[in-house]
Amino acid sequence: MQISLDSKVAVVTGASSGIGTAIARQFVECGARVVITGRKQDTIEQAAERIGPNCLGLAADVSNRADMERLAAIIRERFGRLDVVVANAAVGANARLGEITEEKFSKVIGTNLLGVVHTVQVALPLMKPGGSVILIGSTASHEAPVSMSVYGAAKAGLGAFTKTWIKDLQGSGIRINTISPGAIDTPSLREALGAVSDESRIQTLAAKSPLGRIGSIDEVANVVTFFASDFTSYINGTELYVDGGLKV
Ligand SMILES: NC(=O)c1ccc[n+]([C@@H]2O[C@H](COP(=O)([O-])OP(=O)(O)OC[C@H]3O[C@@H](n4cnc5c(N)ncnc54)[C@H](OP(=O)(O)O)[C@@H]3O)[C@@H](O)[C@H]2O)c1
Repeated sequence: MQISLDSKVAVVTGASSGIGTAIARQFVECGARVVITGRKQDTIEQAAERIGPNCLGLAADVSNRADMERLAAIIRERFGRLDVVVANAAVGANARLGEITEEKFSKVIGTNLLGVVHTVQVALPLMKPGGSVILIGSTASHEAPVSMSVYGAAKAGLGAFTKTWIKDLQGSGIRINTISPGAIDTPSLREALGAVSDESRIQTLAAKSPLGRIGSIDEVANVVTFFASDFTSYINGTELYVDGGLKV
């Protein structure tokens, strides 16, 4: 079975680093034309250059409706349509109960929930039957990591979006699924853990997994690529965990 995304046009938000970059790279390798986004024009252009000629980097802040409308207008003009949408951009914030400021709350909810609403709403008019929308969730929605309650709540909200939105889109032929990674080796995870200079923090996390390790960005991208493809044309409204069995 060879996954082909030939002739598909995709957008991956938050793809200047980590999981988003790996998803975009695999999409391009499978034949798609891909638009990637991040907040900084130079960073996103450099990421697109590293991925290759079928990747276009455009700056757009997912939490800003006007930015996302501009993004959709450019995609319409350049490609005329969208077949695959990956709502990947997200931010974390550490704050224990008692320390949750409005600023941290608004930043996480504005990016991880409102940003997903903007991403999907501006994309929908460009999509046709057969289109695939993939939301990137997290095991933090149920695993309850200390001081990550707002992030976990936002990621839990994606499950509600997925289930409700497929009903809102009844008859459209567009499907929506959530892929929820466990701990994945990215620079932002290492930074959040304080593991940049202390590898033992990664080992502690790895020991919690039934597979005894954390995951790689390609292990998430493999699954997202499968969900972007027509092989999953009858899968709709699911949440799939890419977590090495941590959820069990
Ligand atoms: N790594 C893990 O262990 C893990 C585990 C579970 C779930 N996840 C989820 O997987 C996804 C990717 O995570 P990652 O670890 O690869 O993170 P990352 O390396 O920090 O990447 C996040 C991306 O989002 C972009 N971004 C942040 N705010 C944005 C905004 N307002 N508008 C547009 N782009 C924005 C960042 O680019 P700029 O800063 O340049 O804007 C960056 O490209 C996220 O949804 C995350 O919650 C990750």
